[in-house]
Amino acid sequence: MLGMRKGKVDALLGIVFGDEGKGKIVDYFTPKYDIVARFAGGPNAGHTIMFGGRKFVLRSIPSGILGEAGLNIIGNGCVIAPDLFMAEAKELEDAGYDVRGRLHISKRAHLILPTHRVLDRAYEQAKGKRRVGTTGKGIGPTYSDKASRTGLRMGDALVGFQEKYARLKARHEQILRDLHYTDYDIAEEERQWMKGLEYMLSLDITDTEIEINKALREGKNVLAEGAQGTMLDIDHGTYPYVSSSSTVCGGVCTGLGVAPSSIGEVFGIFKAYSTRVGSGPFPVELTDETGDLIRKTGSEYGAVTGRNRRCGWIDLVALKYAIMVNGVTQLVMMKSDVLDSFETIKACVAYEKDGVRTEDMPFDTEGWHAVYKDIPGWLTDLSRATSEGELPAAFEAYISFLEKELETPITIISVGPDRAQTIVR
Ligand code: GDP
Ligand code: IMO
Ligand code: MG
Repeated sequence: MLGMRKGKVDALLGIVFGDEGKGKIVDYFTPKYDIVARFAGGPNAGHTIMFGGRKFVLRSIPSGILGEAGLNIIGNGCVIAPDLFMAEAKELEDAGYDVRGRLHISKRAHLILPTHRVLDRAYEQAKGKRRVGTTGKGIGPTYSDKASRTGLRMGDALVGFQEKYARLKARHEQILRDLHYTDYDIAEEERQWMKGLEYMLSLDITDTEIEINKALREGKNVLAEGAQGTMLDIDHGTYPYVSSSSTVCGGVCTGLGVAPSSIGEVFGIFKAYSTRVGSGPFPVELTDETGDLIRKTGSEYGAVTGRNRRCGWIDLVALKYAIMVNGVTQLVMMKSDVLDSFETIKACVAYEKDGVRTEDMPFDTEGWHAVYKDIPGWLTDLSRATSEGELPAAFEAYISFLEKELETPITIISVGPDRAQTIVR
């Protein structure tokens, strides 16, 4: 009916290499939404939320679970490991959060089997020096099975599961034998996995795409919580050093079953500098003491694997590309406080290779060097600022420079990990 109020799906997307601070901002936004939904990825994600001295790291469960959102959804575009899911859910339940009543899981989400994780390790080993540096959670093999039409979905667990499971496991074991990767024992892991699956079956396994669209027709609003980041997207990232899902805005539509016309705001989240975990090209990488200082100050160690995150200055080439492919309408800048002590800050404004300069993301980012512009630092403790008026002029100048370059407003600034350390402009 014309003129009927219709809800929107706003998206909060990591627009670089992940770990931008999505968890914190989803949690901060949650009171404004009826539903918070994950649309891609699985336990390769690690989304940190801090408030009042408490810290939670969520992997598969949406970051809306700690706030007021009525319903949290794990959408069809996600992949789930039941054993890890159960551990995550129980931790939340032990901390007093209601998971059971507030979480729906799509029947169409794919299951990560223990053998998918073994395959992840086997493929990485076979790649040798060209390994992706995956999180080892079985993400690639699970999405491969999805695309090969051999995968198992949550809904498959509702009837006759053991036979389907045995068939897929046997297929994986054959591949592992072909790869001469036979030194693994998943017996205990498999027991936990089956327990986890049983636990999941006691939750609401539903047609989440129908629920979301019904909610939208009723005028309710949905927040789609991104995982990973645009540079790790299977199509638009630094392939083959990427994850295996659609992390971009288009992934919201396929990963939740919503129409492009339902998309409202697209929040692109990034850090005041750059990080990357795992292998692959990273033109802004600093392998010197400046990089070490950023890592130490920003506690840049992986939330999932504990690995050192590679650090560097902000990359405007990557950001412009991500803003373009996602249709970002507002930017959210995180971890501004980490740069407090730098006299000069650099921003990568172009890439250069063999005398060729480009401001457009190249097909192959390998071998390109960053071209920098220097920006004066603010040398002020930002972490205690509570409003825009308290921000130093040099910091405002950094923001204005970025907004001009990126042609998109920065509407939220984060100055510390706590929920409260968030400034809206
Ligand atoms: P996500 O995967 O995008 O949710 O991000 P992660 O949780 O993996 O990494 C972000 C890290 O930065 C977490 O440890 C957060 O607690 C922390 N963090 C978030 N925002 C800020 C900020 O503004 N300043 C500082 N210093 N830390 C932040
Ligand atoms: P969040 O949601 C940062 C990286 C891995 C590896 C590559 C492929 O917390 O931002 P995978 O296990 O997905 O096959 O690994 O992608 N990666 C992430 N890096 N943050 C993440 O998630 C990531 N999820 C995967 O390090 O380089
Ligand atoms: Mg993370």
